[in-house]
Amino acid sequence: MVCGQCHTRTGVGTKNPIANDLRGFRIGGKYTDFVSFIAPAWGDGNRSVSPDGKGRRLRQQDMDIRLSRFIRPWSVHETMTCFDCHNPHTIGNNPENPKLKKTREETCNQCHQGTMDPKKVFDGIRGWERASFGKWNTFSGRRGAGMEQHIFNLDSQGRAFGLTPDKYTWVLRTGTNIDPTLKQSWQSIWPWEKADYDLKGRTTFTGADPWKKP
Ligand code: HEC
Ligand code: HEC
Ligand code: HEC
Repeated sequence: MVCGQCHTRTGVGTKNPIANDLRGFRIGGKYTDFVSFIAPAWGDGNRSVSPDGKGRRLRQQDMDIRLSRFIRPWSVHETMTCFDCHNPHTIGNNPENPKLKKTREETCNQCHQGTMDPKKVFDGIRGWERASFGKWNTFSGRRGAGMEQHIFNLDSQGRAFGLTPDKYTWVLRTGTNIDPTLKQSWQSIWPWEKADYDLKGRTTFTGADPWKKP
């Protein structure tokens, strides 16, 4: 909650639909009580999120790490906090080691023993066709100035990869004339938001293309 309050990307406010920021949140509480996350668009992608859920814009590490739990259930990476690897006291003000507690290689080698290269894992663009305005449906994520992507998952070709289609998550929109056989009736949601929609009695679905299902 401390780091994620800024290293996330917010959607509409939960108390006030025109406030898409964290107003009302205080350290000790949960910012998810005050604001939603920017929505994914499973299979299609949008400006902020690639079709498989990788964050695409600045400071989306919080959402990337939340997604890890659904990529790999009981993932060690999902249980780690930002300051397991980063040094919160030196970010931005120690020119010798501004970001991490250990060297970049040691950070991963504590557990991976040389099998993970952070320069590859954190580069969400490598190997994918670049996304651009009007073309959000490629699987490229983010590299930024350095290493922004925090999805701890690689596909069979060694590229940063998020959710497979069998784990895409949706909620049926509400309103009049909602036809579940039409794609536009289904809103993409983050998998960690599903339980809340279920509690509210909304119709949710996990998998590809819910509008094609009987
Ligand atoms: C008040 C908002 C805010 C909070 C809280 C915050 N950050 Fe940041 N952080 C930023 C901004 C803005 C940047 C600038 C880089 C960017 O635009 O992505 C940044 C940059 C960084 C960088 C990159 C620094 C560099 O030298 O390139 C790291 C690493 C980082 N933050 C980690 C953290 C961690 C870990 C925490 C929690 C202990 C945290 N941040 C809390 C806003 C915040
Ligand atoms: C505290 C131990 C620990 C640290 C530190 C750690 N990892 Fe992991 N990592 C694991 C474990 C355990 C798995 C197996 C799946 C899981 O539990 O998440 C894993 C899985 C992965 C995977 C998915 C495996 C694959 O083949 O796609 C990637 C990618 C990854 N880690 C990258 C990294 C990178 C990059 C770093 C350094 C920035 C790092 N890890 C640091 C424990 C760790
Ligand atoms: C498993 C270790 C690990 C965890 C957990 C982790 N990071 Fe990182 N992060 C790294 C490494 C390694 C780098 C690359 C640093 C470098 O440039 O040497 C990095 C880079 C960054 C950057 C800078 C990207 C750039 O362009 O240089 C930001 C911002 C950041 N992390 C934020 C976060 C936030 C926020 C969290 C928690 C939500 C987090 N990280 C969790 C290991 C981690």
